[in-house]
Amino acid sequence: MAEKKTVLSGMRPTGPLHLGHLAGALRNWLQLQDQYQCFYTIVPWHALSSEYQNSKSIKGFTYEYALGWLSFGLDPEKSVLFVQSEVKEHAELHLLLSMIIPLPWLQRVPTFKEAQREVTDRDLNTYGFLGYPVLQTADIVIYKANYVPVGEDQAFHLELAREIVRKFNSLFKPVFPEPQILLTEVPKLAGTDGRKMSNSYGNTINLDDSPDMIRKKIAPMKTDTRRKRKTDPGEPDDCPVFTLHKAFVEEEKREYLAQGCRTAGIGCLECKNVVIDYINELLSPYRDKKRKYEKDPKLVWDILEEGNKKARKVAQETMEEVRAAIGI
Ligand code: TRP
Ligand code: SF4
Repeated sequence: MAEKKTVLSGMRPTGPLHLGHLAGALRNWLQLQDQYQCFYTIVPWHALSSEYQNSKSIKGFTYEYALGWLSFGLDPEKSVLFVQSEVKEHAELHLLLSMIIPLPWLQRVPTFKEAQREVTDRDLNTYGFLGYPVLQTADIVIYKANYVPVGEDQAFHLELAREIVRKFNSLFKPVFPEPQILLTEVPKLAGTDGRKMSNSYGNTINLDDSPDMIRKKIAPMKTDTRRKRKTDPGEPDDCPVFTLHKAFVEEEKREYLAQGCRTAGIGCLECKNVVIDYINELLSPYRDKKRKYEKDPKLVWDILEEGNKKARKVAQETMEEVRAAIGI
C-alpha cells in the first residue's frame, strides 16, 4: 500500500473551545484521521505572538484543548497530537527560514496589515507577530506535510508557505514538498450577540457549556427582525440563529424549519429548541468522554508527551536534512 499522505493543522490556545472550533476544524480533522497521517498541534508560540500580555493563560488553554480534542474523538493511536512549543525544532526552522524571506513578503500579509489597522488594545507591530506566518510555515513543513486543512482566512498564509518552500528548495536543496491547502468549508456561525462567534467578542457557545447553559444562551438570541410576532413570516437566511441550524441540523429537518419560518408556520422558540437539541445531542458523547479524562488529568499530559515525542522524532530528522542542505 502506498504511504499515507501527511496532514497537519493547528489551533491557537487563546480562549475556550467553542462551536466555531467544532464546525470549522474538529469535525473535519476527525474525518481525516483514517485516510491520512495526521499531525494536529496546539500552538502556544502563535498564541504568545498576540497574547504576550496575557501569557499565563496559554498553558491552561493548551491543556483544555488537548482534553477537548481527545473527548471529541481525535485518536492518539491514529494521529500525532502534540504541543508546538514542546518541539523546539520549530523555533530553529523558523529562524533559518527567516534568513531567506524578503521583508515585503511579510509586510503585505493581509492578517498582519489588518492587525495593524484594527487592533488597538495592544501593540502587534512586533518582530514576532510579523513572523507569525514564518512560524506557521515551519510548523507545517518540518513534518513535510502535503495537506493543511484550514479555512479561507488562512489561504494567504498557505500561499506564503508555498512561496517560502519554493525559495528554500531552489536556493539549497529540495527538502520540502509544497504544502497544499485542504480548504475547509467553515460555516459562518453567529455568536450570542449576533456578531461572528469569536473568543475576542466573548459571544461564544462553548463545548464545555452545560445543556442548560446552551439553552440559556440560544433561547434569547435575536432572530430575523421581520418576525415581530409569530404570525409574521421571516427569512432564515437573515436570521443569526439559523447559522447554527446550517451547521448542526440535518438538511431535511432544516428545510422543514425554513419553510415554517417563511410561512409563519412555526414560532422562533420552537425553531430554536430544535437546534438546541441537536447541539446537545452532538455534545453528549463529548461530555461523557470528557468526564472520564477529567478523572485522570495526568493522562492527558501523558498522551500529549507521547505525541510530542513522535513529533520530535520527525522534526529532528527533517532538521538534519535542513542543516545539511544549507551547509551549516
Ligand atoms: N494560524 C492558524 C490559525 O490562526 C493556526 C496555526 C498555526 C496553523 N500553525 C499552523 C494552522 C499550521 C495550520 C497549520 O488558525
Ligand atoms: Fe430564525 Fe427560526 Fe425564527 Fe426563522 S423561525 S427567524 S429561522 S429562529
